[in-house]
Amino acid sequence: MSLKLNGGWSYSTQQIENLIPHLKGDSLKVLELGSGESTGKICDHFLSLFSDVVFHSFETSRKYLSNNPNVTSTLYETVESCVLPDDTFDLILVDGPHGEVRNQWYDKLRGVSRVGTIIHIDDFCHYASFAENLDKSFKYDILDESGRSKKNQHCWRTVKVTKIL
Ligand SMILES: C[S@@+](CC[C@H](N)C(=O)[O-])C[C@H]1O[C@@H](n2cnc3c(N)ncnc32)[C@H](O)[C@@H]1O
Repeated sequence: MSLKLNGGWSYSTQQIENLIPHLKGDSLKVLELGSGESTGKICDHFLSLFSDVVFHSFETSRKYLSNNPNVTSTLYETVESCVLPDDTFDLILVDGPHGEVRNQWYDKLRGVSRVGTIIHIDDFCHYASFAENLDKSFKYDILDESGRSKKNQHCWRTVKVTKIL
């Protein structure tokens, strides 16, 4: 099964395909922050690769919640007030909400991560506070990174947690 994502508001196919070889084991627990058109596609793609997939997606707008039955979708109001699942995840995708407020996730993500968790941060180059707050919460190895060479091109960083601070 090939993954065909649209880019634009969604992730690009490349940024998700690049992280897949780093996901180990038969089962996968995913936490996505910021839903959209790709959410169900990525969940279904993971279901074709792993025998057991848990996929949570958190979203602020009813309009963009995923209706894929394999996705557990949660509507929340603010990053500050959002209560994340009482679990640890193998993969965390940070792609919402809009703007710099996303930098508030990293402190919270300490509670749902373990050594080895992979965190993929879309739009990583948009605000310096994304890197600053990531670095306050985790030590990590960078697995993949793309800067923005052209206007509107996706930029991202994928990291593997080596220590929770
Ligand atoms: C970059 S989008 C997230 C996209 C999602 N991760 C995906 O790849 O499909 C960030 C936020 O914009 C909103 N959004 C999602 N899809 C959108 C669209 N097609 N147009 C405008 N806003 C969108 C949602 O509130 C989402 O949390």
